[in-house]
Amino acid sequence: MIREVLRMGDPRLVQVSRLVETFDTPDLHALIEDMRETMQHLNGAGLAAPQIGVLLRVVIFGVHANPRYPDAEEVPDTVLINPVLDPIGDEIEDGWEGCLSVPGLRGVVPRFRRLRYSGFDARGERIERTVEGFHARVVQHECDHLDGILYPMRIRDFSQFGFTDVLFPGQEVQDD
Ligand code: NI
Repeated sequence: MIREVLRMGDPRLVQVSRLVETFDTPDLHALIEDMRETMQHLNGAGLAAPQIGVLLRVVIFGVHANPRYPDAEEVPDTVLINPVLDPIGDEIEDGWEGCLSVPGLRGVVPRFRRLRYSGFDARGERIERTVEGFHARVVQHECDHLDGILYPMRIRDFSQFGFTDVLFPGQEVQDD
């Protein structure tokens, strides 16, 4: 079922979400299916459970090759539950981000360039990956939602924050 995505200003978006304690349950699978449908419907790169009002530590993300976005790096479709992020090194990279909870806007956000992340899939199987660049950025953005952090709260240079259609006139930009 396509769910309503909460927008910035909703108090649920700034809460800290709870750990998932039981895996492979009908409720958990139904939540993930709703998140997937909602993300696809809105053409997003990722979605966190609190964005649909469920305060559990569940995120999904994935970016595919798309001729409309020839420069976008691919990210595998992933369900990540109870994630733990460990930055590798201290290299920070600036990059543009958007968010389905902050529609119509984009901003430049500093993120760790490389990190290792771990967590579980819906059945409770462990996931562990070392990633960098856009993949690392997407994971950091989505996992921030679980701690009640929206990307505008990470912006350092507000001269690089604005409306997508003004910043990138005539360009199609991935929503997320
Ligand atoms: Ni977001």
